[in-house]
Amino acid sequence: MAKTLEGIPPEKIPTHIAIIMDGNGRWAKKRGLPRLAGHRAGTENLRQIIEACAEFGVKYLTIYAFSTENWGRPADEVEGLMNIFDDVFNRELDELHRQGVQLRHVGRLEGVRSSFIKKIKYGEELTKDNRRLVLNVAFNYGGRDELIHVIKKIVEEGLSPDEIDMEAVEKNLFTAGSPDPDLVIRTSGEQRISNFLLWQSAYSEWFFPEVFWPDFNREELLNAILEYSQRDRRFGLVQS
Ligand code: FPP
Repeated sequence: MAKTLEGIPPEKIPTHIAIIMDGNGRWAKKRGLPRLAGHRAGTENLRQIIEACAEFGVKYLTIYAFSTENWGRPADEVEGLMNIFDDVFNRELDELHRQGVQLRHVGRLEGVRSSFIKKIKYGEELTKDNRRLVLNVAFNYGGRDELIHVIKKIVEEGLSPDEIDMEAVEKNLFTAGSPDPDLVIRTSGEQRISNFLLWQSAYSEWFFPEVFWPDFNREELLNAILEYSQRDRRFGLVQS
């Protein structure tokens, strides 16, 4: 029988899902294809995952598209990834807007080519009033880099030690405005945080499906949400 979310109370559906889209390279290798073919394939399933999130009642989706460390990959892979991001942006933006998706960049703009910065700003402005789903794209993002950014902001604001609290940190995170992720998914069977949402994932539930990212589809997402709905979240407290 096909699985559904029927009967799952809304509070058991994650408000915010974050995904480490891992395994594109291995997906390609398994098929004797170049790594970039894996990255391209990893853009194809994204559309159905975004749509399924909105359909399932998820309000925020954060995807780890390119980390501060990914610049260190071979130049042709970095260049190829940039071309893929550019293509996907050009091809999908209008459709995302039509679907009611609000696009937000998460990460640092310094070091990003200026033609890209323009597009990111354009996409954010175009979609800023959309409410169906917030899509945070972590691009040129690193959790440690984000914390350095927060510390610098706090120093610039001239806060005294007594004034530094959770709120002072959270309002300066790249993800400010999005709640912490309830569920973080990392595909491909790897079980590492890889500098992703270090602050925000303090109490997230984790899920590690074995499939490579291009094979992660609507059904896999449904499985992850069903598994999440069974978990007992205590946030450091005792069971009520
Ligand atoms: C990891 O696979 C994936 C990435 C480095 C991110 C790239 C993601 C995409 C192209 C998906 C689409 C995203 C957008 C925003 C359009 P890997 O290369 O680390 O795989 P491996 O561990 O098997 O080598």
